[in-house]
Amino acid sequence: MMSLTDLGVAIIKLLPPEAAHTATIRLLKERLGVPVNPPATHPTLAVKLPKSGLALSGPVGLAAGFDKNCDVPTAMSKYGFGFVECGTVTPKPQAGNPKPRLFRLSNDKAVINRMGFNNEGIDNFVANLKAYSGAVPLGANVGANKDSDDRVADYVLGIESVAPHADYITVNISSPNTPGLRGLQDKASLEALLTACGAAERVGKPVFLKVAPDLDPEAIADICSVMRGPGAWLSGLIVSNTTLARPDSLKSAQKGETGGLSGAPLMESSTEILAAFARELKGEFDLIGAGGIASGADAYRKIRAGAHAVQLYSAMIYEGPGLAERINRELVRLVQADGFTTLAEAVGKDL
Ligand code: FNR
Repeated sequence: MMSLTDLGVAIIKLLPPEAAHTATIRLLKERLGVPVNPPATHPTLAVKLPKSGLALSGPVGLAAGFDKNCDVPTAMSKYGFGFVECGTVTPKPQAGNPKPRLFRLSNDKAVINRMGFNNEGIDNFVANLKAYSGAVPLGANVGANKDSDDRVADYVLGIESVAPHADYITVNISSPNTPGLRGLQDKASLEALLTACGAAERVGKPVFLKVAPDLDPEAIADICSVMRGPGAWLSGLIVSNTTLARPDSLKSAQKGETGGLSGAPLMESSTEILAAFARELKGEFDLIGAGGIASGADAYRKIRAGAHAVQLYSAMIYEGPGLAERINRELVRLVQADGFTTLAEAVGKDL
């Protein structure tokens, strides 16, 4: 029989995508249908990220973009996610791009978005961070305003504002929807950014850099060399954000929309880029894999490709928030079938 949550998800899916998202956040704010307690976690899935020291009860996190203003992290922490990331937040509030800017590619189990960092600004975000009462680590993902004349200063302000209240911080330089933002991944710009963002001692919390999947081998090598230099204080990488690529396999009419593509068609390419970083970084940094995860098998592939933990967003649009718990159950079976006692033993096994 259909659960109340599944019924709610089915009804919400009848709305246009952004209206569905707004309605979902409203319902979650009211705690409607939200479990009182998170599902029990399996000891097999407990993992400690080696460099950051982040201790997770399970490896599956909620990716940034679902809760841009940190409105509902406590509610989202009750669905089986091992960690929850809010943002991207920018120093000043901004409206983002004109609507429509979010598209379901239902036939491809994919999404295209060109939201453009719509958010209510850092002061509102920090107030919400302070009210978090969930049991899992909470991440704060920071970005730069579109009209900023000093983007580096925006990141520094973001990090310093959220650091006292978040369990980790993500520096997002890979949104394709803020013109020029991805240029911060270039070697000289990244060196300047990571030097300005300062030493971990100053920040006091683990900091991850979130990168795009649209990187060639030279760009990957450059990022790794900056991480070993001015970025040595970083905890690790989140690989990856959405892609500008449009695989030939896409069937949906909306495939021509401008923006970042996520969901199932991103699984393959983002996992390849993750493995490339894992090979290059040789365990010196923590890796969080994201892109196209919709099942335990997908999550497990990222872990075997070098991810210590994973995140998802798009598949939840199709499957509902119960997906995290289902993936956890599948992961336990996959880990045990391979003869491992803990998930951590599987990290990087396919490299
Ligand atoms: C995103 N994503 C994202 N990432 C980020 O760092 N900051 C953001 O504000 C957003 N916003 C956002 C909005 C929407 C509608 C989507 C679908 C995605 C990217 C997201 O966190 C993730 O990295 C990718 O979507 C890949 O994972 P999935 O969605 O394929 O599981």
